[in-house]
Amino acid sequence: MLARVSFSPRTTSRLVLRPIVVDDWPAIHRYMSDPSVTAWLPEGMLDEAGATAFAEMNAGDNPRELAMLLAGSGEFVGHMVFHPWLVPRTWEIGWVLDARHQRQGYATEAAWSLLACAFEALGCHRVIATCQPENVASWRVMEKLGMRREGHFRACIPRPTGDWWDEYFYALLAEEYFAVRQPGSTAPTSS
Ligand SMILES: CC(C)(COP(=O)(O)OP(=O)(O)OC[C@H]1O[C@@H](n2cnc3c(N)ncnc32)[C@H](O)[C@@H]1OP(=O)(O)O)[C@@H](O)C(=O)NCCC(=O)NCCS
Repeated sequence: MLARVSFSPRTTSRLVLRPIVVDDWPAIHRYMSDPSVTAWLPEGMLDEAGATAFAEMNAGDNPRELAMLLAGSGEFVGHMVFHPWLVPRTWEIGWVLDARHQRQGYATEAAWSLLACAFEALGCHRVIATCQPENVASWRVMEKLGMRREGHFRACIPRPTGDWWDEYFYALLAEEYFAVRQPGSTAPTSS
């Protein structure tokens, strides 16, 4: 069983990251029912029941995702994956945004804030992220964060169609994070 860590809302210059609540399900359903958003998500599209279950699971005792809202309007624009991974002091990070809010730097901005949480508050040793090689936007975010591509796994994710997805595996160590970022800062001090 992975440890549960309570999460206090975090604010960036444009975003608020907070725990998901059950009433978030319609906002989650709006973008998680868009095939252009879910094309490279292993869980695929969510119908209303799936979005409700997703919100309920994350509002419970073992949250794995966080709500991402615009700081100004409070609009729910997506969610961040953020949870302990398989080994101690190692967390996984990820990102999903409504198509209308992509390509504005939100995923990178939110991820910077969560890397600060991981390394500065939670004492992580390592943060990892994965995506498919075809998902250029996702691995671009990983590289903008300074994460290293550590692996390219071939045909490792089984699909309901009988196909297999490849996977890129990225990671960032605490020492790499602190080499480019001062505690409490909001952006890398060099790139
Ligand atoms: C992946 C995702 C969260 C990125 O969010 P975002 O807020 O648009 O990301 P950012 O704006 O911070 O950065 C995206 C980078 O990818 C680039 N990019 C975006 N779409 C791209 C595309 N189709 N092809 C190539 N590059 C792309 C952007 O130009 C940007 O790089 P740059 O700053 O060097 O120009 C978003 O595309 C998304 O929600 N996709 C669907 C869900 C998903 O696949 N999540 C990841 C699962 S592993």
